[in-house]
Amino acid sequence: MKKFIKTEIRDHIGVITLNRPQVLNALNREMVEEVVSTLERFDQVDEVRVIIITGSGRAFVAGADIDEMADEDAIRMELLNQFAVWDRINLIKKPILAAVHGLVLGGGFELALSCDMIFASEHVQMGFPEVKLGVMPGAGGTQRLTKAMGKAKALEWLWLGDSMDAKEALHHGVINRIIPEEVLFDETIAIAKKLTAQAPLSLRLIKEAVDKAVDTSIYEGMQFERKNFYLLFASFDQKEGMKAFMEKRRPKFEGR
Ligand code: CAA
Repeated sequence: MKKFIKTEIRDHIGVITLNRPQVLNALNREMVEEVVSTLERFDQVDEVRVIIITGSGRAFVAGADIDEMADEDAIRMELLNQFAVWDRINLIKKPILAAVHGLVLGGGFELALSCDMIFASEHVQMGFPEVKLGVMPGAGGTQRLTKAMGKAKALEWLWLGDSMDAKEALHHGVINRIIPEEVLFDETIAIAKKLTAQAPLSLRLIKEAVDKAVDTSIYEGMQFERKNFYLLFASFDQKEGMKAFMEKRRPKFEGR
């Protein structure tokens, strides 16, 4: 039994449902470990040919759990190295589809971008609001968004911290399709079913080759990003940004 996710296998499809709706599926460390270890289990089980990640409640994910991070300092972040677990997603060989709706923010956007294809509902809001907390994405966001849309556009979204709607996300090549929310999950299952009929080894080696094409150095990029993320926990602005979030007020940043 997992605490923060639900899992099932149906028709050769392994489904992971993020299940912490009371905090909009905010990703705490234990939850990420549950997701990643389930991905690894599905990757090993013959019965599973395709994996889907989706969210319960009104959001896919509203980001990493701010309450868990708010009081951290840079050295503890470095020693904890909480994002190392994300590297294991890069090693999953089976296709992973994300079915996302509602809020897809911060670590949630990073989780979706770690998947191979993203199917989104028409009312989705996808973005990286970390800049408003005095931090930055730390689980691959700067790398994957830039690979998807190029430097200028990625910087615009990352610096402004705005959320893109489904049409913008489609336009920038971030998502595969826009699907009405009421049929999002069923349509994603239907696409997954088509994939389960393909030769599993072809899917596997195609994924590996395509990943090579986009990404000869995502590992290095993510290590660099992670250092900068951890470093921001030495700043006043990180404390202020996260405290302001918890106190439900606007932050006052001082650049230190
Ligand atoms: N961490 C912890 N708790 C969160 C959360 C998060 N990222 N996002 C939402 N919640 C909690 C809220 O605190 C609230 O809890 P209470 O009911 O106990 O107060 C509950 O979820 C519902 O949220 P709201 O009442 O705020 O819902 P809303 O619809 O009014 O607002 C929102 C939604 C605009 C997304 C707002 O919740 C928000 O701004 N969330 C934070 C988004 C964010 O900054 N994400 C990035 C996190 S940092 C990160 O992800 C780093 C990384 O790279 C890994």
